[in-house]
Amino acid sequence: MVTAQTLSEFKAVSRCEELACPPFSDADTSLTRTYLSPAYLAAQERLAQWMAQAGMSVRRDAAMNLIGRYEGTAPDAPALIIGSHLDSVRNAGHYDGPLGIMLGIEAVAVLSSGRTRMPFAIEVYAFGDEEGSRFPAAMLTSRAVAGTLDPAALDVADRDGVKLAELVDIAAYPTAARHPDSVVCYLEAHIEQGPVLEAQGLAVGTVTGIAAQLRYEITVGGIAGHAGTTAMDLRRDAVAGMAQMVLAAENVARAGPADLVATVGVVQVHLGAPNVVPGQCSFTLDVRAGDALRRDAAADEILRLFREIANVRDLGLAVRMVHDLPASPCDPALMDLLDNATVAIGQTPFRLVSGAGHDAMIMAALCPTAMLFVRCRGGVSHNPAEHVDPADAQVALRVMLGFIQQLGARFEPA
Ligand code: GLV
Ligand code: MN
Ligand code: MN
Repeated sequence: MVTAQTLSEFKAVSRCEELACPPFSDADTSLTRTYLSPAYLAAQERLAQWMAQAGMSVRRDAAMNLIGRYEGTAPDAPALIIGSHLDSVRNAGHYDGPLGIMLGIEAVAVLSSGRTRMPFAIEVYAFGDEEGSRFPAAMLTSRAVAGTLDPAALDVADRDGVKLAELVDIAAYPTAARHPDSVVCYLEAHIEQGPVLEAQGLAVGTVTGIAAQLRYEITVGGIAGHAGTTAMDLRRDAVAGMAQMVLAAENVARAGPADLVATVGVVQVHLGAPNVVPGQCSFTLDVRAGDALRRDAAADEILRLFREIANVRDLGLAVRMVHDLPASPCDPALMDLLDNATVAIGQTPFRLVSGAGHDAMIMAALCPTAMLFVRCRGGVSHNPAEHVDPADAQVALRVMLGFIQQLGARFEPA
């Protein structure tokens, strides 16, 4: 029987805090850690130390994921993959992503300190670009692992014009793919990023599935002109058109069901200046819903309105899809294992859906997936105020250990 450490030995939360500052953040006084930045590489070095201390062999794959492997009873056994992401949004909270990695490392540390080997290996994956905060793409590294990556998606550059191909060998990138026979299943622990668990008074919950996502990059073209001399009725102002489009997207989502959401999270004005009528701007549009049909209907309506606004204002409009992620149900048998493990430690099992995206939705193409949510204060996330109670994270660790144990009991080697 494996048990979790005492709270004083429990490191998952304090390690997330340690990684929230330079050199593990690209910003001096807040947390920003984008894929392949100096902070990302420094955080990988630190993680590699923790993985090694926990008894894992450590490697990087061609997508620059960091992977720790803890062998099972037989060499080369297929692996339970426990993962989450090391990158962050800009001005991030400290737990979105890293907490799931740290809990994976802690779970292995508990097993290895008790000299317990499972009939499968355990691999902890620290994924790279779940957030899409550096390149106009997201989850490239888990797509590479799942074997679903379109190599054309690697032709991207960041805001400074640095191409992904300058940082990694993009020809080798798809070799990060795992063969399905080498994987048992995927488990991701993550902060809930919403208020449901807190409202229920529960530390953890079993995720039933992840909402479908569409993400676009939209460029609006007008004509730059002098802000003092271009009469209002002669203007073809790209930013004014964009503003109308942003509100149109909001109106469509507000008119839909509660799980339909639309967000414009990045807006950029090309060569913006106070005394120039904007000639070009671009923005991102992220649309999500519990199922792809309702999501797609909303996105079609939003894009129809964008075209209408562009026509009326005589603006150019270019729409590029960044990603289309289908809704991803979690595996029913693995959900039961998480529920059972929750009951076994005296907690109430509870199921909830994820509106946030996770690497788990990509890994679902490779193997059965499970997700465990951990309560976060006020449901606040993508915000430096994000907070997790260490006692809640330790409940999650105990549930994960119970899950591992039950998986071992029902595991039949191929
Ligand atoms: C990731 O946090 C996402 O849901 O976009
Ligand atoms: Mn996030
Ligand atoms: Mn996340």
